[in-house]
Amino acid sequence: MAILVTGGAGYIGSHTCVELLDAGYDVVVLDNLSNSSEKSLERVEALTGKKVKFYKGNILDRDILNTIFTKESIESCIHFAGLKAVGESVAKPWEYYENNIAGTLTLVDVMRQNDCKNIIFSSSATVYGDPAEIPITEECPKGQCTNPYGWTKSMLEQILMDIQKADKEWNVILLRYFNPIGAHKSGIMGENPNGIPNNLMPYITQVAVGKLKELGVFGNDYDTPDGTGVRDYIHVVDLANGHVKALKKLEENVGLGIYNLGTGRGCSVMELVKNFEEANGIKIPYVIKERRPGDIATCYCDPAKAKRELGWEAQYGIREMCEDSWRWQKNNPNGYEE
Ligand code: NAD
Ligand code: UFG
Repeated sequence: MAILVTGGAGYIGSHTCVELLDAGYDVVVLDNLSNSSEKSLERVEALTGKKVKFYKGNILDRDILNTIFTKESIESCIHFAGLKAVGESVAKPWEYYENNIAGTLTLVDVMRQNDCKNIIFSSSATVYGDPAEIPITEECPKGQCTNPYGWTKSMLEQILMDIQKADKEWNVILLRYFNPIGAHKSGIMGENPNGIPNNLMPYITQVAVGKLKELGVFGNDYDTPDGTGVRDYIHVVDLANGHVKALKKLEENVGLGIYNLGTGRGCSVMELVKNFEEANGIKIPYVIKERRPGDIATCYCDPAKAKRELGWEAQYGIREMCEDSWRWQKNNPNGYEE
């Protein structure tokens, strides 16, 4: 039996493939490579010494999905595939709703036709909107999203919950990721953003490697200890391991499970910069800019439920996240491109 990993060539997906293979699972990846490179999967194979069965294709394509379910013996699906750029989603809402929502509906339909009713879905802290409580527990009410990307996550959570409610054969786990950063310790796998990065850590590493001149810090007048935005950064390998634990839970016929995956510790923009500088001995020039529209001041979770019910807890701290992000960027200044 194998695990279908949609979006498995991407940042979080490729790191999860390593942990799944190391845990003894067979892995089948479906990815259209719209935001990734097949090279990430070669690196997964090099690291694990195991094969990944790769299908290049779209989750909107029923034919390829049917081919996979006919040829492979799929027991569960970890569903990463989706578009994720917040700003782009504001400019191209239709493309985001089509890809993320229609794509997931197609996937789930083919899954049920093939009697595979186990899914882990990549959700996000963004579903909490401007959170009603800090630290954020899973009980915290969902909030207003500020962009179509966020709404796709919030709506897909609802869709998957409704499907599970109507058909108890489904097992659905929604994993709400906080801010994944870092890279595999080997330095041969990591985040590979297209163009100028939107997110903080890839921006920092590209300043460090000399591709960008300086970091813009989006606001230093928030109601936080140093005025800059506070987030719950989580090492991507910890996040990947969270999926292995969630899969074990799925195998117990959990029904519905919702879990925050974060460290539970808030870290400001300036703290992350300082940690990066100290961990790697590199200065990161920065300028203070206006607040970025849609940003919130503080977002970190209470990860106790994942610890209690999944037996999962983050192992790595900010320092290791900074070292590992830099090792990847330094060794691969152009990501997976030669
Ligand atoms: P990523 O872009 O690196 O990976 C997504 C993968 O999905 C890519 O390889 C892309 O080519 C593929 N893909 C996109 N649309 C597809 C389609 N229609 N058919 C087949 N493949 C498709 O992103 P990531 O950071 O690894 O994120 C993985 C998942 O986690 C996404 O759903 C994302 O929204 C979610 N998430 C990410 C973050 C984050 O900060 N990185 C935070 C919360 C949630
Ligand atoms: N920031 C800067 N300069 C930059 C980039 C970011 O100062 O160049 C600041 C932001 O203002 C924020 C913090 O760094 O305070 C983190 O910003 P990111 O863009 O790295 O992450 P966000 O928390 O804004 O969003 C991320 C993902 C979303 C996801 C959300 C919650 O991009 O998709 O985490 O999971 F929804």
